[in-house]
Amino acid sequence: MQKSRHSPITIALAFFAGALLPNAAAFSIQPQLGPYPVSVSNIAIQTSRDDALAPQSGTKRRLMLSILQPQMDTFACHNSSYTPYMPARTASVMKTQEPAGIPLSPIADLDFNALEVEYCALSSSLVSLAEPRLPILLFQPGYQNSRFSYQLNLASIASSGYTVISMDSTFETPIIEFPDGSTVVNNTGISEDGLGPNDSLPVRVADYSSVIDALENGELQVPGLELSSKSTGEEGKIGGIGVFGHSIGGAAALSAASSDPRIAAAIDWDGQIFSSQINISIPVPAFLFGRETPLPGHVEGWEFAWDNLLKGEKVWVAVNGTQHLSFTDLPIVLDVEGLRKEYRENVEAVGGVIAPERQREILWRGSVGWFDSVLKGTGEDLFHNRINDYPDVRFVK
Ligand SMILES: *[C@@H]1O[C@H](CO)[C@@H](O)[C@H](O)[C@H]1NC(C)=O
Ligand SMILES: *[C@@H]1O[C@H](CO)[C@@H](O)[C@H](O)[C@H]1NC(C)=O
Ligand SMILES: *[C@@H]1O[C@H](CO)[C@@H](O)[C@H](O)[C@H]1NC(C)=O
Ligand SMILES: *[C@@H]1O[C@H](CO)[C@@H](O)[C@H](O)[C@H]1NC(C)=O
Ligand SMILES: *[C@@H]1O[C@H](CO)[C@@H](O)[C@H](O)[C@H]1NC(C)=O
Repeated sequence: MQKSRHSPITIALAFFAGALLPNAAAFSIQPQLGPYPVSVSNIAIQTSRDDALAPQSGTKRRLMLSILQPQMDTFACHNSSYTPYMPARTASVMKTQEPAGIPLSPIADLDFNALEVEYCALSSSLVSLAEPRLPILLFQPGYQNSRFSYQLNLASIASSGYTVISMDSTFETPIIEFPDGSTVVNNTGISEDGLGPNDSLPVRVADYSSVIDALENGELQVPGLELSSKSTGEEGKIGGIGVFGHSIGGAAALSAASSDPRIAAAIDWDGQIFSSQINISIPVPAFLFGRETPLPGHVEGWEFAWDNLLKGEKVWVAVNGTQHLSFTDLPIVLDVEGLRKEYRENVEAVGGVIAPERQREILWRGSVGWFDSVLKGTGEDLFHNRINDYPDVRFVK
């Protein structure tokens, strides 16, 4: 936890870095806030489900995942691996998007390609034997957003001892690059015509379960972790599964927690309740983690969920100075790239007035605190010492 006292951001001098490494990015960030270095890998899985979002009927749904793993046998990374924040094509497509209705084009100097993330290269013995039942967290992005747009926050959470698996929503994410070189672009939009969020929600709910299926049947092998009961011949090594997501991804996490008994905990990062969710029942502990002032309609949805849908332990927290996209990496990327001053209005529309690093610390502390108490049974208060250390975190309920 002492880690959070240090600034995790290092801005390399472009000239210097460029002189040493031919393709070095101008900016670099070290995402670790917890005790362990984090490695990343990107893996595709093929499901046997018909893909309701695909333009062609009969398409079986394929999912692209990022796996963020803590290296729990070491507190120091001996082999750093600098990874582009996004693959090049994804970076150029994501730059033209309007997440949550906010166009990024006015922030002309924003360049997802100019940022590198300092991960730790995968070693063969990732998980120490002292951690036989490592919990797994599954994450989904907001509507038409990319899994890459959350990796800094997710890597922070992974660095506290969680394998975090994030997944794109195929045919909804603006562009997905698969390892075989193929790309898939969105087939859902925001207009009344065609497929929209209402169509995506049930598909996303099933995606969470498909990833758990793949872990259980051995199709998804997390490097260094022998997860499947098949491959070990005994009880698997999964130590409890938590789900969380941003926006529609958070709404889908709640529905997945209501329908899939393998899920033990959920967090909704500022995700509205859909009218199709009015009959769900969430038996496991659930945490509503929201912006300072939710949109009209959104707050009623959470009130309704609080009174009617959340049957387990529950908490509702609002963070002062935040906006909807404060629950993405975007404010951090803008900060690291030095764009906060020049594009102040745009930056505040995106991430509110809270300092990006502060919001990242709150998102990390709250999410890790919740999953620790439910999945690891640490029994610590959420936002331990909250009066003194987290005056900007408001416990709504
Ligand atoms: C560091 O990791 C890279 C792969 O990312 C590997 O090729 C290299 O051998 C590793 N170096 C050491 C010293 O382990
Ligand atoms: C892809 O998303 C964009 C932005 O929301 C939208 O304009 C476009 O219509 C979408 N494509 C399809 C096929 O729905
Ligand atoms: C989604 O479904 C709700 C309830 O059926 C409806 O009110 C809303 O207009 C739908 N949204 C879109 C974009 O179709
Ligand atoms: C909720 O349950 C009621 C009563 O069983 C039913 O009439 C309604 O159609 C359900 N709504 C949804 C969105 O599932
Ligand atoms: C946070 O917001 C609440 C309600 O708007 C306010 O009462 C409180 O003083 C704020 N705290 C800080 C530290 O800004």
